[in-house]
Amino acid sequence: MDISILKQTAQALMASGKGILAADESTKTIQRRFEKIGLQSSPETNLAYRKMLFTTPGIEQFLSGVILYDETIRQSINGVSVPKYLESKGILPGIKVDQGLVDLPNSAGEKVTEGLEGLKERLSEYKQLGAKFAKWRAVITIGEGIPTDNCIQQNAERLAEYAKLCQEQGIVPIVEPEVLMDGSHDLAKCWEVTAKTLKAVFNRLKAHKIVLEGMVLKPNMVISGKESSIQASSQEIAEATVQTFLEVIPKEVPGIVFLSGGQTPDQATENLAAITKIGGPWQLSFSYGRALQDEALTVWVGKEENVQAAQKSFLERAQKVSEARSTR
Ligand code: 13P
Repeated sequence: MDISILKQTAQALMASGKGILAADESTKTIQRRFEKIGLQSSPETNLAYRKMLFTTPGIEQFLSGVILYDETIRQSINGVSVPKYLESKGILPGIKVDQGLVDLPNSAGEKVTEGLEGLKERLSEYKQLGAKFAKWRAVITIGEGIPTDNCIQQNAERLAEYAKLCQEQGIVPIVEPEVLMDGSHDLAKCWEVTAKTLKAVFNRLKAHKIVLEGMVLKPNMVISGKESSIQASSQEIAEATVQTFLEVIPKEVPGIVFLSGGQTPDQATENLAAITKIGGPWQLSFSYGRALQDEALTVWVGKEENVQAAQKSFLERAQKVSEARSTR
């Protein structure tokens, strides 16, 4: 394991003023996103969309990395492979390596992430294709009697096993335990579950001897459930999030990048600004999917003649999020 390469990549991902674009929607998820604009997903339309995003002039000022999906890492832009194209712009290519969620046996409403089988071989291929970092997303749902300790433990263990395999190959693991915003729970509940989840994750990372300096954490913000009648303010979200992290996340972790998780682009931008204003011993940034893409997708709607306008919208949002990441 080459620790210096891992540290270097993790630092590069956390470069000042920059963050990560999550463009790794699976075939099913991109289809769901395209339904909103009445477009059929196919390898060609998926590439046309992602090409619009990646070729946005100047986007490299705000992006340190892009997370790709298996389909995209094998595609080309202007005759150059997508990973090489991104690298030519100074953006690190990354890859989603989990294979999605399945029901957790004997636990209604809970999920566990699949993809450890054959992961070593897949990582080695992705490395050949140019991936410098990877992502694995675990999902924790808040509801009646859930999450169970079993669900948290199983997901934490898998995240740690994935992180180990990545680091052995010199690939920086993004460790993503996402406590979902879905539900009517309040901020205090999200706080409790997020703290418990992160504690379990760092316990397992420690047990597997993960080099903390060579990883990046991708958590949710501590936030009210989407259907909660009391919506916490940005300041409350920021205070609860940083407080939780200070209690649980070792200072050796170089970077924390948030997912947007269903927040609107404006909410994800404002909340990030409030969080970075308080700050902590780690670099704090973003790895947004929807919050960076939603506006551009709505402008693009699958039409070549809208590419420039969509790119303008994407660049403007990326700049706002970059500014939010840089409040101190
Ligand atoms: P969202 O920002 O849309 O939550 O996506 C981030 C991500 O990578 C989820 O795995």
